[in-house]
Amino acid sequence: MNPIVFPKHANSLVKKYLSQKVCTVLEHQKTDSGFTLAKAINSGLKNPDSAIGIYAGDAQSYKTFSLIFDPVISEYHKGVETLKHESDLTEIELPCLDPENKYIQSTRIRVARNLKGFCFPCYMKLFERRKLEKKILSTLSSLTGNLKGSYYSLELDDKEKLNPLKTKNLGFQKGDRFQDAAGINSDFPKYRGVYLSFDEQLMVWINEEDHLRIISLEKSSDISSVYKRLCQTVTALNQSLDFAWDSTYGNLTSCPTNIGTAMRAGVHIQLEKLEKNKDILFKLIKAYNLQIRGTCGEKTKIQNAVFDISNYQRFGVSESEILLNLHAGLVAIIKAEQNL
Ligand code: ARG
Repeated sequence: MNPIVFPKHANSLVKKYLSQKVCTVLEHQKTDSGFTLAKAINSGLKNPDSAIGIYAGDAQSYKTFSLIFDPVISEYHKGVETLKHESDLTEIELPCLDPENKYIQSTRIRVARNLKGFCFPCYMKLFERRKLEKKILSTLSSLTGNLKGSYYSLELDDKEKLNPLKTKNLGFQKGDRFQDAAGINSDFPKYRGVYLSFDEQLMVWINEEDHLRIISLEKSSDISSVYKRLCQTVTALNQSLDFAWDSTYGNLTSCPTNIGTAMRAGVHIQLEKLEKNKDILFKLIKAYNLQIRGTCGEKTKIQNAVFDISNYQRFGVSESEILLNLHAGLVAIIKAEQNL
């Protein structure tokens, strides 16, 4: 293997922790499915502006390459001294944040899940994607009540005029250059798609960055209601799908930023005053360990003062801690906006 050289200006966690010593130990290791260190770090090497720069190709990657994954995980999921995770998907009652919908436009909670026995999306072969899509679709078809819906394949996109993938923004697009270099876009758009419930408050993306992205969303600020739908869906799917899970890392995901709960809970919130006083907003974001994403997704710009605010940490905390903390942070942010 050629020596691994990150560009000088690269600032990723993988560059920080991949010492020559670690490299020498890991460069000849392979998981049972054949995933290597070179494949895991390709995205970080090709994209010097990566924040993290590493992806797992299968569930075993976290153990095989723990010398690099563990320090990255410890630094990203701040405050996690000893790696250990417990998960609890019990519903929670939280007071409504913004009953008049003055600031919060929508609430969205997603979890990522991967299935045992399949490689992860950056290392999946075409036949595996096909098999996985089929398996997940047959499980989704058993959902009942308000979770019932239809599936829209990304392969149909150009042909079907009424395909909601065209008419609505369902969010699932071809992966960005970070995901591309990781291998996540291979054979795109084959065997990818979105399941959408008839009430449009549940989406399941199949074969995006993870096998499943289960997303519950509402045009309201009612975190409890959004979370309740998510818990119902995950529990129902888990009856026939075996999720990749580890007692140390929790739910195993493609990107180490998502392990543990694999949950990102957040809102789209319009903050016209705080947009002009970003230092106050950034202080609150830091104090509550939240993150800001752009209006149209990760690494996009803020438009119309609409911020996507969500939890930063997903590992080493429980789902209910994430929601309580998000709620408290948003109460403080709305108060700050009102006081300006
Ligand atoms: N690989 C990218 C980076 O290192 C994105 C990391 C987090 N986002 C994600 N979709 N997994 O900056």
